[in-house]
Amino acid sequence: MDETTKQKVILSGIQPSGVLTIGHLAGALKNWVDLQNDFRCYYMIADLHSITLRQVPAELRQRTIETAALFIAAGINPETSTLFVQSQVPEHAELAWVLSTYTGFGELSRMTQFKDKSEKHPENINAGLFTYPVLMAADILLYQADLVPVGDDQKQHLELTRNLAQRFNHYYSETFKVPEPYISKIGSRIMSLQEPTTKMSKSDPNMNASIFLSDSNEVIVNKIKRAVTDSDALIKYDEANKPGVSNLMTLYHLATGRSFAEIENEFEGKGYGDFKLAVGISVANWIAPLRDNYFEILKDKKRLQDILTQGAEQARRVARKTLDKVYKKVGFVRF
Ligand code: TRP
Repeated sequence: MDETTKQKVILSGIQPSGVLTIGHLAGALKNWVDLQNDFRCYYMIADLHSITLRQVPAELRQRTIETAALFIAAGINPETSTLFVQSQVPEHAELAWVLSTYTGFGELSRMTQFKDKSEKHPENINAGLFTYPVLMAADILLYQADLVPVGDDQKQHLELTRNLAQRFNHYYSETFKVPEPYISKIGSRIMSLQEPTTKMSKSDPNMNASIFLSDSNEVIVNKIKRAVTDSDALIKYDEANKPGVSNLMTLYHLATGRSFAEIENEFEGKGYGDFKLAVGISVANWIAPLRDNYFEILKDKKRLQDILTQGAEQARRVARKTLDKVYKKVGFVRF
């Protein structure tokens, strides 16, 4: 990279509300690792977002540390990327408040994730769940991010972020970079092994539906053996008609680098038993080094704490600059 070109900025985050799955590795972490070479990256553990659903405090704390360990095990380099916990950078909550006064009630009412989550948790439709996208906008705008790697389900939130940035810039003067979404291609959506038309989720109550990044090789092979397919006994990529087989092919592609055409050839005339075993073994081989690394990293709590403390300090320096500008523009007294 040419030292004189200003590096473009990436920001992304994952909530620490469950053990991460192979879906996170394929859809987010793998990209995050690749992007580190070309961008100035900020990777955040979004614990403020997690409390919009009720959490067990000790578990949230534990998951936050585990998520950090997993980021590092997956290849996030804390020397070159800033790895931090959202609640350790108070500027996120501060900017979210200001932005919320520029966000319409109607705008937030249209967010599909809010509607989905309200239906799932009718007993706890809190104001934080409603203003969740504003906090996410603050996360992104504080770092003047150029690009934001997100899954499909977050696109609407990113659209709102862009609108808020433009609205604020227009009302005052240029303050925020207007970010672009960075949607990855293949494998960005790993589906449930048990219900392959829905996304694999860390909070699925059916343990066989998700492959967790902490699963042993044996567990991985068994879960894939039990994966729901169909009755045609044909290994062919067809998301609409063969979602289960297509999902396993995506996993095999990610684990081996083989194309769908190569995979179809390889298993021509073979049954689902052979196919699933091959997928299971290759996925286990793919995950194993990451998992072993993860358990090693988790042992050294002190090192993890140091990394997160330094990450939060780096993040705050950048976030504070943006927030100072915002406070000045809206008319708060600064001494
Ligand atoms: N809302 C995102 C999710 O659940 C996580 C997140 C929080 C995020 N803040 C972010 C993602 C900022 C990208 C940028 O997946």
